[in-house]
Amino acid sequence: MLGTAIEVVEGDITRQRVDAIVNAANASLLGGGGVDGAIHRAAGPGLLAECRTLGGCPTGEARITGGHDLPARFVIHTVGPVWRGGTHGEDELLARCYRNSLVLAKQHGVKTIAFPSISTGAYGFPVRRAAPIALREIAAFLTRDKAIHRATIVCFGPETLLAYEDAAVEVGDEG
Ligand code: AR6
Repeated sequence: MLGTAIEVVEGDITRQRVDAIVNAANASLLGGGGVDGAIHRAAGPGLLAECRTLGGCPTGEARITGGHDLPARFVIHTVGPVWRGGTHGEDELLARCYRNSLVLAKQHGVKTIAFPSISTGAYGFPVRRAAPIALREIAAFLTRDKAIHRATIVCFGPETLLAYEDAAVEVGDEG
């Protein structure tokens, strides 16, 4: 099911040479720590200025801006769920982040996209539960829709990388 269109790498998402990178933002869309802070630092102040015009974003949805000083042409900002024990719809909300980001990417002609591990940092979603959800959603989209050619999950650190590599085997076996 995974195919060759999805890759898992270790690295810094701000350096990715892709059409769009996805930001794990918060509902204000006005910046923060983690990958959000790194993206705003690398993109420069124009990104924040553009984000201010958007009026925020609810959990599970996505919004798009330009990439400003980044190598990527677009930033897709999505808001992952805060982990509250796993019984508050967190799995479905996380799945929606990936799905809605891909829909928006397709609408803007994006062919290559990079995702971080949404919600698994400050928002506390266990990475070993998040990884198969992320890979299943991306694989399902790329399988039924050929508009997006390649999706890369950019893992920050070896623990996250291993979780996604293991999930890739698990999800690949399902297909
Ligand atoms: N490239 C790729 N991944 C990164 C990078 C990077 N440069 N930096 C961190 N990560 P987090 P969340 C990883 O906390 O859990 C922010 O303050 C990180 O190691 O960035 O969705 C927002 O404003 C982890 O694996 O996002 C929100 O308030 C993953 O990115 C809140 O954090 C996600 O961790 C969102 O929390």
